[in-house]
Amino acid sequence: MRLTVIGTGYLGAVHAACMAEIGHDVLGVDVDPEKVADLAEGRPPFYEPGFEDVLTRALDSGRLRFTTDLREAAAHGEVHFICVGTPQRAGSRAADLRYVDAVVDGLAPNLSAPCLLVGKSTVPVGTTARLAARVARLAPPGARVELAWNPEFLREGFAVDDTLRPDRIVTGVTGKAADETLRRVYAPMLAAGVPYLVTDPNTAELVKSAANAFLATKISFINAMAEVCDATGADVATLADAIGHDTRIGRQFLNAGLGFGGGCLPKDIRAFTARAQELGVGPAVAFLGQVDEINQRQRSRTVALAGRLLGGDLTGRRVTVLGATFKPNSDDVRDSPALAVAVELHRQGARVRVHDPEGAAKAVLAHPELRCGADLLTACQGAELVLHLTEWSEYRELDPVKLARVVRTPLLIDGRNALPHDAWRAAGWTVKALGRPA
Ligand code: UGA
Repeated sequence: MRLTVIGTGYLGAVHAACMAEIGHDVLGVDVDPEKVADLAEGRPPFYEPGFEDVLTRALDSGRLRFTTDLREAAAHGEVHFICVGTPQRAGSRAADLRYVDAVVDGLAPNLSAPCLLVGKSTVPVGTTARLAARVARLAPPGARVELAWNPEFLREGFAVDDTLRPDRIVTGVTGKAADETLRRVYAPMLAAGVPYLVTDPNTAELVKSAANAFLATKISFINAMAEVCDATGADVATLADAIGHDTRIGRQFLNAGLGFGGGCLPKDIRAFTARAQELGVGPAVAFLGQVDEINQRQRSRTVALAGRLLGGDLTGRRVTVLGATFKPNSDDVRDSPALAVAVELHRQGARVRVHDPEGAAKAVLAHPELRCGADLLTACQGAELVLHLTEWSEYRELDPVKLARVVRTPLLIDGRNALPHDAWRAAGWTVKALGRPA
């Protein structure tokens, strides 16, 4: 099928390459000519394991091209996927839909052949209906343009696998034709037995908001338990294992620590709250405000712990932060808890050095006041405190004996509860973590 994918960020670039991988003829579209040039030459504009391979294969097959021209896109696609960002609106908790609207405004007047517009971005419930009215107003008279919503559940770091082998596909359609078209798009996944749920657009949009709200709630729940554990000397890691054995609860997303960040969970729970308020059902999701607050508090609790461990004053103290990205296997520093802590430690006077296997460049670009160590050992040289804030596997594999020799004081905060504490203690380190007994 001839598909366009409009917006080539994490979501769109991966979707475009994966759709070509399963046999479609794909045109990726972006307003950023640099990004388009990079992608067209097989250079991923972001770090994502496995993406470069799938991108190269797709380009070599001749089934994937890129353009900045929406008119070319309008002529190419039987199906147009909208994959642009929906960030938090400045000065508000609501989602900023200007990029989604701009795609529709640019595309609709050029749609002469029958086609299907499919949104994949995370949007407030009701967006499909609103955009359908917009398309009806802007498309040429008699144009047959349908709208559908097909939320995306991929995780950064697993984006390719999540796209090719999703745990479910959800489509929100208003008619049989759109359903049939989307079934043809996803035919290989359907054949592989991927659960395929067809619903109305409002439900499809809500599924995404609900899924991310649930994940965020799960993380804040365990971090709330960590706070209670700290008040009692109990151990949140054991608690998570113990409740996680109950299959109704499940162990995943119960890793206590610095909490969630990134371009999705934080802004999605805020946008969901704002939309619920507009709909007059604010109280139904008011708890998400608490979820957000608990999450933010883990950052300040970590900074406070660092301050206490260094005797109450951070001024001039040498601190090393391991990890700058919001999660491992990504170079994404958007709303990164690790980076937020590094910035706050610096603001309070500490001499902070940051290390990250992939995210250092983006971290320094966002926060030029921070310094990055060239390599891990240099970053830790002379440190009075090391904070492990993003759980990259290379940190788990660190030799604590070797590291103890380069730091000034072998003092560690494990903000992700992911290092082997016994081995570090055996190597002479004092190890602290939120929700864990000393
Ligand atoms: C999240 C969802 O998991 C995806 O399903 C969704 O498609 C995506 O948002 C999106 O809306 O686009 P992602 O932001 O890539 O994916 O990252 P997650 O793996 O969900 O992690 C989010 C944050 O939660 C990270 O900062 C991570 O460190 C933190 N986290 C995760 C915890 O603090 N504890 C946990 O137990 C799990």
